[in-house]
Amino acid sequence: MKHLLKLSDLSESEIIEILNLADQLKYEKKHNIPHEYLKGKSLGMIFQKSSTRTRVSFETGMYQLGGQALFLSNRDLQIGRGEPVEDTAKVLSRYLDGIMIRTFEQKEVEDLAKYGSIPIINGLTDYAHPCQVLADLMTIREYKGEFDNLKLTFVGDGNNMANSLIVGCLKVGMRVAIACPKTHQPDSGVLQFAKAYGDKFLMTDDVLQACKDADVIYTDVWASMGQEGEAEERKKAFAGYQVNDKTLAVAKKDAMVLHCLPAHRGEEITAQVIDNHPEIFDEAENRLHAQKAVLVKLMGHK
Ligand code: CP
Ligand code: NVA
Repeated sequence: MKHLLKLSDLSESEIIEILNLADQLKYEKKHNIPHEYLKGKSLGMIFQKSSTRTRVSFETGMYQLGGQALFLSNRDLQIGRGEPVEDTAKVLSRYLDGIMIRTFEQKEVEDLAKYGSIPIINGLTDYAHPCQVLADLMTIREYKGEFDNLKLTFVGDGNNMANSLIVGCLKVGMRVAIACPKTHQPDSGVLQFAKAYGDKFLMTDDVLQACKDADVIYTDVWASMGQEGEAEERKKAFAGYQVNDKTLAVAKKDAMVLHCLPAHRGEEITAQVIDNHPEIFDEAENRLHAQKAVLVKLMGHK
């Protein structure tokens, strides 16, 4: 594994190796066991969109691993004034040991990897959010102990989260159901990928059908970053695609609820459901541990 651009590039065993290392790093952190596996290493973090979790978890994660992280805002970089990705990749590769980038187009992330000579990590694009799904899988395994045949249902927009959940969960042996309006389905290439998994994958516009007997219910905002102008129109399109007590009533009794956050309480999920499901905040914490594992795999010798 040279980069983390999207989960379809990883094998099932590579995903499991990252999760195992993430568990180890979480243990080491909790017990104050030194784990400076990236001493002297520098990670550049390019942000073209806002972030709370991704920025803070990568920055503190690098510090805990003995390295450093540089926050590089699009507003300050020459890339924001039109310097080509190709030149940026070549130059930054001479200073840094890795780059995490959050941007709009997946192609920009792939181009950084193509023209640079250091590991590139996708910290969210319009297409994918692989770091989030690694933390989600870590959390599911913590609560459920295994993946085999667990059913994850995603309710809402067929966006970057839906795309990455479909790929990540199917790869580790889970079943996946997606409930979204016909007008807002996941990426067609991802749906093609899912087809190979036969009846382990269900795509429907019926929320209750999708949530039936689910072990994990997942949702995300109706308007992602960059789609703020469509917020009103989207509120209409997604009316009914909410995780609430009715949705949970058809799932398994011990179903987990996950949300990548930030959440819009009262839209895609009710405040009550968030407040009754503290695993959502374990999920947020696990961003730190899962990403530290990715950093060590890509930039260290462990
Ligand atoms: N879930 C997630 O990526 O959060 P941020 O946008 O705060 O980084
Ligand atoms: N789909 C959301 C995820 C945020 C973590 C977005 O892209 O804004």
